[in-house]
Amino acid sequence: MKNTSVSTGEAHLKEMFRVSDNLRYQQCLNNKCQATFGIEQALFSCPACGDLLDARYNWDKLDVPDSLSWFEKRWATRNNPLDFSGVWRFRELLPFCDEQYCVTIGEGQTLLQQNDGVGNYVDIAAGKVYLQYEGMNPSGSFKDNGMTGAFSHAKMVGAKHAICASTGNTSASLALYAHSCGMKGSVFIGSGRIAYGKLSQALDYGARTIQVKGDFDDCMRQVKEVAAREKLYLVNSLNPFRLEGQKTIMFRVLEKLNWQVPDWIIVPGGNLGNSSAFGKAFMELKELGLIDKIPRLAIINATGANTLFDLYENIGVRFNGGDVDNETIDAYFAKLDAENYRPKTIATAIEISRPVNLKKCLRALEVCNGVVREVSDEDILHAKAIIGKHGLGCEPASAASVAGLKRLREQGIIDTNESAVCILTGHQLKDPSVTVNYHIEAETTFSNKPIEVENDIDAIIEKLRH
Ligand code: F0G
Repeated sequence: MKNTSVSTGEAHLKEMFRVSDNLRYQQCLNNKCQATFGIEQALFSCPACGDLLDARYNWDKLDVPDSLSWFEKRWATRNNPLDFSGVWRFRELLPFCDEQYCVTIGEGQTLLQQNDGVGNYVDIAAGKVYLQYEGMNPSGSFKDNGMTGAFSHAKMVGAKHAICASTGNTSASLALYAHSCGMKGSVFIGSGRIAYGKLSQALDYGARTIQVKGDFDDCMRQVKEVAAREKLYLVNSLNPFRLEGQKTIMFRVLEKLNWQVPDWIIVPGGNLGNSSAFGKAFMELKELGLIDKIPRLAIINATGANTLFDLYENIGVRFNGGDVDNETIDAYFAKLDAENYRPKTIATAIEISRPVNLKKCLRALEVCNGVVREVSDEDILHAKAIIGKHGLGCEPASAASVAGLKRLREQGIIDTNESAVCILTGHQLKDPSVTVNYHIEAETTFSNKPIEVENDIDAIIEKLRH
């Protein structure tokens, strides 16, 4: 492990660089820096260069199972809350904290479901399309996988007040976990850009809800500054321990496939935490010899919030083994700022134009030989209706994965016989107004308009017969 020396001369900074435990530590992603820090610090970005931090492990010195099927023994011990959690039953693969700090409220009880109805819509052979329905988490989205990780670390470092910026789901999840840990929780949301299902959760679970006159990107900028100034614990996906929890979504996918790796994973892209976590999961599983193949990753932007698509597919920015072209990225964001560009999509969860995990996501794309696509709001809504019709409700952002799979199939990037797992990130009831408006207003073969009828039994039966 490299412990970079930094000539700041300041004692407190030197202390930060101290790695107290050589089993687990934090490390800067920037390969020109690679500074390491103790696991017990709440940093959220590299104090030396400002880049993203990873949780890292000295696997050789840790007790890691030699086969993924080892985890099946946990199915027999589900009366232990950590073994019941769909995150912590894989704790040997995210060993950043001792069990005494692990917080769980039963997150990750989610299932991979095969779905030929959706398969038919995207023209993939029977038995090959799977949906990983993360809407079944305690707060109704995949965020709980990450929040359990972040709050466990928060407990470990003795934090008292957790804070985040959010398009809605992160705030709902923060509010729930802060409550269950007895911590204070505050959320920053953009005014008017949050679906009511999510707002109702943050309010109901008692989070201090700050409605900033701006959008998510504004909230994110502010929350980073506020967390640093006020020394609050930041639980956005900048937090490396959030991403440790989100790795387990992939472990559960593999578990349901009898530890076989699918050909493709397809995930919506917003702040790019999930895609970054998935890339890290596969990178580590391969490093540990627990899988022999890495799936391809497809990340799907909404057309109205397509920074990753633009940078990766149009401009050609790559991870380059950690040597990222920062100048091109900085110039891109400076242009967005100069134009006062504001993203806009019906999928408000992914209405983000300055994704904080961009570089980690580029690494995931490198590790997984990935592609990025953009899909229109119309494509998202049709895909959402198809998913609903075939038994799994989801919110608009989640349906971007299926719309993206359809696009990749049409383009011949994905073959009809390849297996594809779409991540349904949030529950249908998060944003019911989009669903109801679609079915009432859209004149498509997928919409399901309510039928008005006189208050008369014969008229009612007549409508049922047709
Ligand atoms: N799907 C849903 C339902 C989401 O809520 C989000 C992100 C994403 C996809 C994108 O995931 O950021 O990992 O690329 N929602 C965040 C929030 C930003 O504040 O709730 P990502």
